[in-house]
Amino acid sequence: MKTKNNEIRVFAPATVSNIACGFDIMGFAIDMPGDELVLRVSERPGVTITKISGDDGRLTYDVALNTAGKPVLSMVKAFGIECGVEIEIHKKMPLGSGLGSSAASAVAAAFAVNQLFDLNLSNLDILPFAIEGEMIASGSLHVDNVAPALYGGFVLIRSYNPIDIIKIDVPKNLYCTVIHPHIEISTKESRRLLPSEIPLSNAITQWGNTAALIAGLLKSDYNLIGRSLVDVVAEPIRSKLIPGFDDMKSAAIFAGALGCSISGSGPSLFALSDSREKAVLIAQSMQIALNNHNLASDLYVSQINNLGPRVIYLK
Ligand code: HSE
Repeated sequence: MKTKNNEIRVFAPATVSNIACGFDIMGFAIDMPGDELVLRVSERPGVTITKISGDDGRLTYDVALNTAGKPVLSMVKAFGIECGVEIEIHKKMPLGSGLGSSAASAVAAAFAVNQLFDLNLSNLDILPFAIEGEMIASGSLHVDNVAPALYGGFVLIRSYNPIDIIKIDVPKNLYCTVIHPHIEISTKESRRLLPSEIPLSNAITQWGNTAALIAGLLKSDYNLIGRSLVDVVAEPIRSKLIPGFDDMKSAAIFAGALGCSISGSGPSLFALSDSREKAVLIAQSMQIALNNHNLASDLYVSQINNLGPRVIYLK
């Protein structure tokens, strides 16, 4: 297979998953942060990772064991790409942050292969390759970061077998505040903490809120969105791993958030609101609350990123 271009640089966004009540079945993309990845046609045969930045030396250069490397390897094989391929990974977001760092790298890689080699694949075609990368990092099949990073917007995963992805329209003025406290939580570890079964009463609460959150988004009913941001499954357990969780959540609600919960497996928290002004105020309030726990943090304020990954350049 030939390509008319030799090099591409892409961006894939961070994602907030679970959205309180939708454990493993809901997620949305945000504008910032995200990962960048360069893919280059090379004289050297095979797939090689030539550079990784922003990871403090923690990610492997072994292509088959790397979150971005694996999707490239699989796609090269699946689509008969015969030329050598070099990968540069530029981590522009923290690892173990609950913001879908591994998903951003995996999606960036799969998206870049599709673009550079003109494969014309749909998102549904690309998704399994990105999932292969994500599974290396998390050790489990959950696509609530990978799917929104790839499709953009707010995504519902109705089914895993077969995969059924549904994009949900969100109100125009829906804003997301993210605070990333500077500690690290491994998704693998924090998934182990969760029970494999839940009481029926909790299931009823959870699916009531999940359904209502989708209804609230589709009807632009901010009040209903707020009432539905409740998690009785993961948050009570995982919040104990996050210093200052209760204080940050209270500060967010006091500052006008519709609701607030853990982003993915944490330690980041997200809060939704109905204006940029509120989203900024919520960010400041959460950070002040966390300062009392002597923990530094990063803040991100964003609308729902409807685009997903994008090409920075293609040459
Ligand atoms: N749904 C996954 C979890 C997301 O909560 O474990 C991990 O980012």
